[in-house]
Order: sequence, then structure tokens, then C-alpha cells
Amino acid sequence: MPNPPTEALLANLRDRLGPRGFTRAPDEMAPWLSDWRGRYHGAAAALVSPASTEEVAAVVGRCAAEGVAVVPQGGNTSMVGGATPGADGGALLLSLRRMNHVRGLSAEDNALTAEAGAILAHVHDAAATIGRRFPLSLGAKGSATIGGLVSTNAGGTQVLRFGPMRSLVLGLEAVLPDGSVFSSLAPLRKDNRGYDLKQLLIGAEGTLGVVTAATLRLVPAVGTRAVAWIGVDSPRAALALLRRLEARLGDAVESFELVPANALALVLRHVPGTRAPLARPQPWNVLIEAVAPVGAADPCGALEAALADALADGAAADAVVAASEAQAESFWKLRDTISEAERAEGPALKHDISVPVSAMPEFVVEAARAVEDRYPGTRAIAFGHLGDGNVHFNVQPPTGPDAAAWLAARGEEASGFVYELVIAARGSISAEHGIGQMKAATLARTDPPARLAALHAVKRALDPGGIMNPGKLFAPS
Ligand code: MLT
Ligand code: ZN
Repeated sequence: MPNPPTEALLANLRDRLGPRGFTRAPDEMAPWLSDWRGRYHGAAAALVSPASTEEVAAVVGRCAAEGVAVVPQGGNTSMVGGATPGADGGALLLSLRRMNHVRGLSAEDNALTAEAGAILAHVHDAAATIGRRFPLSLGAKGSATIGGLVSTNAGGTQVLRFGPMRSLVLGLEAVLPDGSVFSSLAPLRKDNRGYDLKQLLIGAEGTLGVVTAATLRLVPAVGTRAVAWIGVDSPRAALALLRRLEARLGDAVESFELVPANALALVLRHVPGTRAPLARPQPWNVLIEAVAPVGAADPCGALEAALADALADGAAADAVVAASEAQAESFWKLRDTISEAERAEGPALKHDISVPVSAMPEFVVEAARAVEDRYPGTRAIAFGHLGDGNVHFNVQPPTGPDAAAWLAARGEEASGFVYELVIAARGSISAEHGIGQMKAATLARTDPPARLAALHAVKRALDPGGIMNPGKLFAPS
């Protein structure tokens, strides 16, 4: 168990970091002590905001010496309470937001080095200045930071082509739990020096150290894109269509998102300015984006031809290719606002799960049926990254005045049931959001013993005092 910080430690850090880097003022700390969804509320002895890696190392080194807990935080956009300190108030909340510089860019290396507090949208802008792009984007791009994206192995809607953060980090700098600095920012494409510490820190949710900077892989900027909305009969037909389009268009296909009729209906009901893209409602829809680099042929013609063939032989039921950027954006809006529309509909159980891609079409249909049969009145909504074998499998409680009471009484059990189905399908209980506080107990209960023991051993070896982001990933013992 970590110790609360002494007044001497706090005074030392205040002197070291100065007024911009240290505060105990309740009003300055308050916004960062709850998660953005308002589900987790914590307390902290102080909010420290170092301006450099050396300052982070000084803070962590002092905390390691005195066994004080450190909770790293970037944009505070965790979906699982991963950046919210515990309620005991003994930890230091360490914000990376002042470390927000792009340290370097190289068109030759196709790489960009950004500090942990750099906001994703700013990194996109920086890459564009050298005719490149960083191919990871998600709804929270205006506030999510590089450190948080690395620490959660974030995904988004281009994973299909470029992979999640694990595929995009070429180099990393982090302060380890003893205060030492692991500095490996060189944009190496190949590096076989034994264990890959960088990969261990990616997705570690701040439990093995504080990521302070990352060197990211860039790809050519987009010249033209083709965006289509397609109606299909089933998720199986959707997956077959994806494979067919890949065969025709190669890796131009960057996004392939599944939108069931019930998710589209929620968006049309709750999000102003949206309209159905197809004349007749379809049981399942997919949103596809194909892109070409600057100077290459527009992918629109190839996509239209492939879709015409799919319509002719019944592989797709209906389709429309966006005729303008505005229409393309309106299709994306239908996809990107599903979570917002769900929120407007009311609280629901959210699960970001994965199973092998080939098993996902059956899973979304059969798991939805199993949940709705077992919990009468519930409605399962499975949408998202079908091509990655990852969907958001969310369960709405029975409608009516007792929805909140139902969630309180049955929610945990119903989520447990969903996870049982996922595990039976050889899947993962977290494909995107991570474990954080929310799923720590579920992980402890469901993970294979050998894997769990190895995770604990790694944690003990690197953080013997258990000071890094306690209560996240591992359930408090
Ligand atoms: C998405 O893919 O839209 C998000 O990851 C969903 C979410 O907010 O759960
Ligand atoms: Zn997602």
C-alpha cells in the first residue's frame, strides 16, 4: 500500500515545480478529479504539472523513495476511470498537459516526436505541415493526448489499415517507477534487443511508468477519399463485402464500420441534422472509406465499380457513394455520433469487446439474442469496427421509469454474462477502452491464470512499491 505524502515532500515538490507546476487549490484540482463521464470521483494530495521529462523524473523519484502513489493524467478522456485517482486522497495527480510540444518531425523518417501532453488534433496538424498524416483518429481527438493514447493502446476507425497505437509508436520516452528515464525515441523500424520495453509500456495504463514522449509513425497525406454507405442483410454479408472490396481496392480501404438499424435509428432520433442515407431502412449498414495519396487516382471510381458488382449479385442490398465532401462528412456523422445518441437515450451497459474477425458476424447476432432472451426488455446494440473484430456491444435496460433501478440491480450480472459469451468466443473483454478501474475486478476473475500471474510478476518487478496508478488494471487486493 502506498503512503500518503508528507508535508516535507509536498513542500519540496512545490519548490521544485513552481506555482505553474504545483497546486493544492481545490478549485484548480476539481476538474481533474472526476472522469469526463462523471462516473468516477477521486481525491489527490496535490496536482503536479511538470514541464519537462526531468521534472517528471524528479517527482516520480521522490515518490518512489517515499512510497507515494502517482496517477498520471493526459486529456482525462478515459472511458474506464483509468486517469481518476482513488478516493483516499493519498496520491499525487500528475498532469502531462504542460508537456505539449512537438519535438521534431522528419519527412525522411516518416516520423514525428511529440510530448505526452500533445493533443491528438495538434499532432494531426503538425504532420500535415510536412505533407504527412498520423493515421489514428477518434472522437476525443480535440482533448485526448499522446501519452494517454499510448498508455491505452488507443484504436479508432483506421485500425483496419494501420493498426492501433502499438503499430504506430516507433520510439518512446518514459519515466519508470523508480524515477529513472527510459529514453528510446529514435525512429527505429527494426530493433531486436530482447524484450520490447516500449511495447510493455504501451497499453500499460500508467501502471509501469509515466510516458513522457513518443515518436510516431507517419504515412502519406490523403489526396482523395471515397466514402460509401451500404445496406446489407447481415453481419456475415458485411464481412464478405469487406473481403471483396479489399480484393478489388487493396489497402486503400481504411475504414469499415458496422452500423445496425437500431443504432442508426437512435442517431436519427437524437442527433439534430441527420438523415437516413438510403431510401429504405436496412437491417445492417456499413460505412466504408477508401483513400488515395496525393497524385494517385481517385478511389471513387474503383469503389463505385466494386459496389455496382456487389449490388448486381446481391452481395449488397443498397449503396450510396458520397457525391461531395459534405455528404461524406454527413455519413461519418451518422457513425461518429452513435455513442452520443446512446447517451441521449439513457444510461446503458457498455462493452468494448473483440473476438476473432471470422467469429464476429455470428457473435453479434447470437450474443444479442442470448442477452435479450435472458434479460427481457433489454436491447443489445452492436456497432463499430467489424473489420478489426471489435464492436461496441452495448445493452440498454428495459425502457420505463425503472431503467436506472434495473441497471443498479442487474447491470453487473448482465455485463458478466456478456463477458462470458465473449470469453467463450475466444475474445477479449477490452478491445479499446482498457481495463482502468471499471474492469479490474472482471479481469482478475476472467483472465487465464498464467497470463494474470505474468502480468502481476511484470508489475511487481518494475513497480515493487505499487506506486504507479494504483487500482487500475489490477483490482485492489
Ligand atoms: C466508437 O467507436 O465510437 C467509440 O469507441 C465508442 C464509445 O464511445 O464507446
Ligand atoms: Zn470504438
